[in-house]
Amino acid sequence: METAALPSFDPLPGATEVDAAVIGSGIVGLSAAWELARTGLTVVVLEADRLAGGVTGHTTGKLTAQHASVYGTLRSEHGEDAALRYAESQSAALRHVVEVSEELGIDCELERRPAFTYCVHPEGVDGLRAEADASRAAGLSASFVTETGLPFPVAGAVRVEDQAQFHPLAYLRGLADDLVARGGRIHEGTRVTRLDHGNPCRLTTDSGATVSAELVVVATHHPVFDHMLLTTRLTQHRDLVIAGPVPARQDPGGMYISRENGKRSVRTSPLADGRRLLIVTGEAFTPGTGEDTEAGYARLQAWAQQHFPGVTITHRWAAQDNSSTDTLPLIGRMPTHGENVYVATGFAGWGMTGGVLAATAVAALVRGEEEPWGGLYDPGRVGSPLRSAPTYLKAQWETGKHFVKDRLDALGDGTNGPAESLRPGEGTVVRAGGSPCAVHRDDHGRLHAVSAVCTHLGCLVAFNNAERTWECPCHGSRFGIDGEILQGPALSPLERHDPDEL
Ligand code: FES
Repeated sequence: METAALPSFDPLPGATEVDAAVIGSGIVGLSAAWELARTGLTVVVLEADRLAGGVTGHTTGKLTAQHASVYGTLRSEHGEDAALRYAESQSAALRHVVEVSEELGIDCELERRPAFTYCVHPEGVDGLRAEADASRAAGLSASFVTETGLPFPVAGAVRVEDQAQFHPLAYLRGLADDLVARGGRIHEGTRVTRLDHGNPCRLTTDSGATVSAELVVVATHHPVFDHMLLTTRLTQHRDLVIAGPVPARQDPGGMYISRENGKRSVRTSPLADGRRLLIVTGEAFTPGTGEDTEAGYARLQAWAQQHFPGVTITHRWAAQDNSSTDTLPLIGRMPTHGENVYVATGFAGWGMTGGVLAATAVAALVRGEEEPWGGLYDPGRVGSPLRSAPTYLKAQWETGKHFVKDRLDALGDGTNGPAESLRPGEGTVVRAGGSPCAVHRDDHGRLHAVSAVCTHLGCLVAFNNAERTWECPCHGSRFGIDGEILQGPALSPLERHDPDEL
């Protein structure tokens, strides 16, 4: 986000009519808008915040069909053919990025690299051997190895050749420039708060501006206009990320992810002075569960400094992903929203290839072509209900637990302690006039108070101490300390309270 020099765009000023409206400007939204504009449609992109400032702006930019150990899971849950189609479709997306960046002359620091899923403990070896077999059977150039470029020994790894890494926002800047050159429009600071599907569809924004569109693509990470069918099939997690320059000789020469407790993901990207920017990810947690994220950053930093001595961490951030309960992303027509509303979500942290794949799949459906990839990603699929039922039920249990138990806790005996005892940087949920209230004390000692009831479906938010945000455990909405929306599916801010009345 620092180095992409993205253009800026004005909010949507009033009523407009288009062939296609795309909600969200991450890799799904901008790629879909560009694909649709290329077919001759008039297109508008509506972005609540800044261009690619959401999940895509926080990705580590791996462009690979190796998704940790997904092929073993797909093979057992969905069969060999599904694993094959998954690998083919993700690989096609990778090739598409290469071709489009060449066609448009986009310098997006695209580097071909092998991808590795590794383990350091011998207990993980059998699973990785099976993953290597499943990956090969799915058509990837995969092998089981015991040597990697990492600066520590591994017990084993699955190596997949000829994958890629890139600067995703540089790529999207190229797409945005070309989209605008083709007559497409982009509006930032324009939150769509209502979608009425029909022929045409009608969108209403937070400023009251409206869009009439023959078709709509909902590319908002979590599908904000779905309250049931897709929402209940998605789970959220958040990963911490740190980065800092290392000498080029410390570049491990690939993209790495471990599959053990204490997951670590590593890659580097080029810096102008010849060094490499080391990017390390890990310490995954469910947003809204009150995790001590400061401690998580400290563990991540200690790990990076142990294995890459001399690295100075210059940046840290976090990235939020959602996963479907049956492992496969949800891409295609949005169930319950007619024939002309499309959705793409549930990439499980692999949204770079998944997002590009989604955009090309939606464009194919709009052109009237067959369901791409044999309906593998169809959001209306029934799939393998028995095999995915445990994950689905666990997700529903967790959500139900937060909805009921968290509320009882907050309305009970005030166990979270009084707001006055908060130290600078801390936050807690307290009772105020019988309602749960989220209170934070800033570094200047001032209290900030907002309703703790998430405006999506009413679960209670919890404090993230490193990011200083309020997060909802049910579907991952995130809010600033004064209640502003940082991440959906919530469409309204948390109501502000007067801290003097606590
Ligand atoms: Fe759904 Fe909060 S209740 S995100």
